[in-house]
Amino acid sequence: MSEEALVAVELRKQYTTRGSPPIDALRGVSLRIAKGERVALLGRNGAGKTTFLRIASTLLVPSSGSVHVFGHDAIADPDSVRPLLAVVPQEGKPFFHLTPREQVYSYLRARGFARESARAQSESALEQMGLLEVADRLSITLSGGQRQRTMVATVIATEAPIMFLDEPTIGMDPFARREVWASLRRLTQRGSTILLTTHYLDEAENLAQRLSIIERGRVLVEGSGEELKRRAGGTLRVSIVGGARLGPELESFGTVVPDGEAVHVITSPEQVQELLGLTLRAKLPTTVGPVTLEEAFLRVVGRSIDSEG
Ligand SMILES: Nc1ncnc2c1ncn2[C@@H]1O[C@H](COP(=O)(O)OP(=O)(O)OP(=O)(O)O)[C@@H](O)[C@H]1O
Ligand SMILES: [Mg+2]
Repeated sequence: MSEEALVAVELRKQYTTRGSPPIDALRGVSLRIAKGERVALLGRNGAGKTTFLRIASTLLVPSSGSVHVFGHDAIADPDSVRPLLAVVPQEGKPFFHLTPREQVYSYLRARGFARESARAQSESALEQMGLLEVADRLSITLSGGQRQRTMVATVIATEAPIMFLDEPTIGMDPFARREVWASLRRLTQRGSTILLTTHYLDEAENLAQRLSIIERGRVLVEGSGEELKRRAGGTLRVSIVGGARLGPELESFGTVVPDGEAVHVITSPEQVQELLGLTLRAKLPTTVGPVTLEEAFLRVVGRSIDSEG
């Protein structure tokens, strides 16, 4: 098997619906993922993330471009790709008339697992997802988060070489989200590859080694969280109470984000000292902290929206 888990080149997808203008959901997206990597696709609603995932997982055919999964052509030869992957679809639901235990077990059996290993793998996945207590209740009686955990349990139980997870932790409590992160990390340590989408930027930062921001069907930025923050103008945030009255003077230190009478400056470690000197002389209470990935995302995507609009 190829050491590159996924190679997508110049993927384009135009949706055509009768009676409405065509929609260019992907406008030339390329992405390479090495075996064992965890990569997150980020982007605003409608950016094209689900479209990309559906194409990469053989559920949708692109208008043009190519996708290879472990060296197999996902478009010309989807049958050889499907056994290598498992998918948590966006807004997927477990079968309501099955219990989580039946759901996970029967999915593994359908994928060709022998009885014994299907049982062992499903028990382990149910335990990892904290589902043992509800494992024998019909899914229709489960809470929203418990249903979502069942969807994730079904996929992690496969230990498939590559897993596509579209907003896997939506509706989960903060404990459950961390259980998912730990399980996905364990899987990649054992050689699986993960591509996920999420709107939780803390999740992307905690879990993914590499991020790719999609905006209007194109890759806007790709790299680690730290690289993304540098692109946003710095890795530190200096918050100045009453900083609005310092005016344009602040702009030489980095990106200025107004917040009522307060001001946040996204800046670099090299410039922090001089900026603190300024706010000290002005007697303005100031705090320094790391920029969050969410702030960097808002800056980078926001700039792109401004320049297009
Ligand atoms: N089946 C479809 N028919 C027509 N247009 C579609 C279809 N599915 C998606 N689109 C459009 O394609 C674009 C990309 O949608 P997609 O679902 O890939 O976005 P996304 O990045 O996953 O967004 P979200 O974060 O909201 O899930 C959007 O403009 C959407 O309206
Ligand atoms: Mg989506």
